[in-house]
Amino acid sequence: MNDVRKTYPTKSPVLVTCGLPYASGPMHIGHLRTYVPADVFVRLLRKMQTEVVFVCGSDTHGTPIVTAAEREGVTPEELFRRYHQHYVEIFPRLNIIFDNYGTTDDPENHHRTHEIVRALQENGYIYSKELETPYCDNCGRSLPDRFVRGECPYCHADARGDECDQGCGRYLEPGEILNPRCAICGSPTRPVRRRHYYFKLTAFEDFLKEYLESVDGTKNAKNYALGWIRDGLKDWCITRDLEWGVKFPGDESLTLYVWVDAPIHYISSTEEWAKKTEQPDAWEKFWRPGDGKIVHYIGQDIVYHHCIFWPSMLKGSGYNLPYAIVASGMVKIEGHNFSRSRGYVVWIDDDYLSKGLDPDYLRYYMVATTGQTRDLDFSWDTFHDKVNTELVGVFGNFVYRALHFTHKHFGAVPEGEISEEVLDRIRSTIDSIVAAVNEYELKKVADDIMQLASFGNEYFQSNTPWVLVKEDKAACGRVLYDALAIVKALAILIEPMMPGVAEKIWEQLGFESSEIHSILLEEALVPLPIGHRMGRPVPVIAKIDDRLLAELKSTIETRIRRAERGEGTTEEGGESQMETVTFDEFKRMDIRAGKILECERVPKTKKLLKMRVDIGDEERTIVTGLADQYAPEELEGLTALFLVNLEPKKLAGIESQGMILAIEYADQPGKWKPLTVESVPPGSKVA
Ligand code: 2FM
Ligand code: ZN
Repeated sequence: MNDVRKTYPTKSPVLVTCGLPYASGPMHIGHLRTYVPADVFVRLLRKMQTEVVFVCGSDTHGTPIVTAAEREGVTPEELFRRYHQHYVEIFPRLNIIFDNYGTTDDPENHHRTHEIVRALQENGYIYSKELETPYCDNCGRSLPDRFVRGECPYCHADARGDECDQGCGRYLEPGEILNPRCAICGSPTRPVRRRHYYFKLTAFEDFLKEYLESVDGTKNAKNYALGWIRDGLKDWCITRDLEWGVKFPGDESLTLYVWVDAPIHYISSTEEWAKKTEQPDAWEKFWRPGDGKIVHYIGQDIVYHHCIFWPSMLKGSGYNLPYAIVASGMVKIEGHNFSRSRGYVVWIDDDYLSKGLDPDYLRYYMVATTGQTRDLDFSWDTFHDKVNTELVGVFGNFVYRALHFTHKHFGAVPEGEISEEVLDRIRSTIDSIVAAVNEYELKKVADDIMQLASFGNEYFQSNTPWVLVKEDKAACGRVLYDALAIVKALAILIEPMMPGVAEKIWEQLGFESSEIHSILLEEALVPLPIGHRMGRPVPVIAKIDDRLLAELKSTIETRIRRAERGEGTTEEGGESQMETVTFDEFKRMDIRAGKILECERVPKTKKLLKMRVDIGDEERTIVTGLADQYAPEELEGLTALFLVNLEPKKLAGIESQGMILAIEYADQPGKWKPLTVESVPPGSKVA
């Protein structure tokens, strides 16, 4: 690419932000498509001596939070606090380190949002207007955003109130969706007239065209946005009929749309960082017009909000504009569109970290597998392959070979002088990495590092130190001196992507491990001091074994099967947020202890057992499918739990008047154990 701007390294301070995760469910692999590249980018800039502040926070308002809280039967605040805590804890476990991680409900954000909305009002960019919004008579409430589903007026796909999430991806204005129905109860809705506030987005069309032509970042962001402007913009309704959120200043009965206060948190999070570091005005060097550079890392699905709404809000209220918008492609799972409800999801804690997998392997995979703007198709097979072939086979192999051989035969850095060939190779790798950073294309950084490791392997192989050590130890030392220079360079260069692995190499090179994070890229050109004592070498990357691979794959397969059977999750929630039932619904189930008086096989069936069960006030015939696992005499005489008000059903011609409750072994799908209760008289109820 020859039209790449050379921005980095820069003397200007750089603020890097990441799209805020909704604090409504646990972290999944889709999130990492933004956070990992952003963290790698930040670490690379710091290695180029550029001053960087890195902020993010939890998105706590809007219908994504309110609908999830209602599903769980908790308040929005209870819900967001729980998941906010989850994010606070999980980011560092992935070596993603923000300088500040706040929430959009922080007082700083309420305050900054009010200040900006007031400034927009004073500058004449806000007006009120009546419009028709959907109302559900059955639920007795107005239906903003995700509370309504219907048909996209542009592409006619099934869509949610504020976004065509299944089709063209467009932002939808309130009242725009066709054939609206209540997302909670499914009833058709009735339009009601309401007064809302609008932001004069149309006044920013010319500004946006010019701004987007010059904004840095990835092409997908600016090209999509320019296309939308060509299609024509509409003024933007910025208030909602919703209790939870930041109130509209001047009319407390209305709440601001979540996409007003969410990006403003980029500013408030910077303010929080400034306060925390005792330089309260330091946030202004980014956000007040000046030479500070703001770089937003976002997912491709929120380009509209960041390239259209956000720069217009900033412009209209007198703030600095983003210097770059870097949009990533989306994540697919095993060739399928990411979908929590259909089971195509990988949960970062349950499926990855808690299995003891190294976060750095996933960081590498997220960056090295595909280009920044392309979709990443995650599969455990390609993950396994990348770790075992590239990281272990190429990178880890060279590092271990060079360190182990030197340690064994010399114990310290041998005498030598770095060769031109090796120095040139390291220099050109650094140059290429810096160029890739300027293109926001971190896959190239990963490729450059792997090529340098490959070169190291070839260098080691072709110079046969294992022969030289016997014939000419000094010559052997010179080869190893070069090899160690490559190892040192690799440790420095891999640190942004794999900070933990880099620490291990640094320690084996005989340094304090945590120092590696502040070592500059150019240090990679400086070979190790002769005679410097090394640490004990051990392999820094471990293969993913086949048993673990099979387990990882089976977790996804089971989840997909469960989703196909309608068990599993909702689209918005994690596994723990299965659809909830109310207490009244639960109480409708009559679950009692029943004593199995008689039990026999149902002739001509493989699985069915017929039981005569005493449920306290009567005896029932209950048929169950456990004959392949239990002999009738094993069950006879037991007292177990039965659902006795289940609709009667005929099985092999026999009417079953209830169901025995049994538990499926988590580690042996298909194996069941009846839920027995001891010393409880028949008829005792579960409540
Ligand atoms: O789409 C989302 O997940 C939003 N929570 C992103 C917000 S980014 C920013 F603008 F606040
Ligand atoms: Zn559409």
